[in-house]
Amino acid sequence: MLMKERLKAVQHASNVCADIEGFDFDQYDSRDIDDVRKYWLQYGVIRFKKTRISDEQQVKFSRHFGEFVIHPKQLQEGGHPVHPEILVISNAMKDGKPSGAMGNSEATWHTDTWFYEKPPAGAILRAVQIPPSGGDTYFLSTYIAYETLPAVLKTAVEGRQIFFQNVYDKTGKLRLGKVEPKSRDFREWSGIVHPLVRTHGETGRKALYLGGTVDGAWIVGMSRDESDSLLAALWDHTINTEHVFVQQWDEGDIMMWDNRCTMHRRDSFDPAFVRIMHRTTTSGERPV
Ligand code: OGA
Ligand code: MN
Repeated sequence: MLMKERLKAVQHASNVCADIEGFDFDQYDSRDIDDVRKYWLQYGVIRFKKTRISDEQQVKFSRHFGEFVIHPKQLQEGGHPVHPEILVISNAMKDGKPSGAMGNSEATWHTDTWFYEKPPAGAILRAVQIPPSGGDTYFLSTYIAYETLPAVLKTAVEGRQIFFQNVYDKTGKLRLGKVEPKSRDFREWSGIVHPLVRTHGETGRKALYLGGTVDGAWIVGMSRDESDSLLAALWDHTINTEHVFVQQWDEGDIMMWDNRCTMHRRDSFDPAFVRIMHRTTTSGERPV
């Protein structure tokens, strides 16, 4: 009997992403899933090029990696008509209303829903329709960000906690931009405290945890100015790295990232073109 060829991971020069080759979405077994899981933990970001899978297959595949997380946008314009597990990211308009989340604008560096008590462990993002240019998605590793910190910054983050302001209000509406005045103590804000350096529950590696915006964050125990300047230095270090993977999408491409040790951002694109992505998201632990 012929041995089934196992999966292969081809790492990119950025050190942040690997292409998974040989995975058949129509026919896979638990060993294949174990391999995908192993590579996902190892690289932080993995890519499946030009798949031709259905929404149903995406949901089924995602289920192997944990419970689904429903994003607040899924209860609004980002909902999928058939699969509640799918977040629709789209700039297309339908009946004068957005048919998905995020529009065509730039998304700055972030970890998904960092201000949750338990932020998602992973996301699986599939390109359904892509514009001819623009809308690239960039990934970096927050393990690398931590490991490459200069000694003074490494000492400064040691044992620290960080407060993150909630980005959504109770109804799921975006409240970014409504940043609290500097004079107000962060303990009066609505939000969550997480470790500034988190230890990944499965790999045991340490990762810097900066969340998503500088304005809505405050390092516990520091004055606002002290916190702002340390955060600015940490962001500067993190995003000015050569270890960035740039995903230029083809239809059917899937990016699967570990949301506990990576950040991503997205370029804007010409609103004359339609870009549609379907995302499934899996639940994670409270950062420690
Ligand atoms: C996301 C996200 C980027 C993109 O799905 O969390 O940030 O490329 N998407 O659409
Ligand atoms: Mn995101």
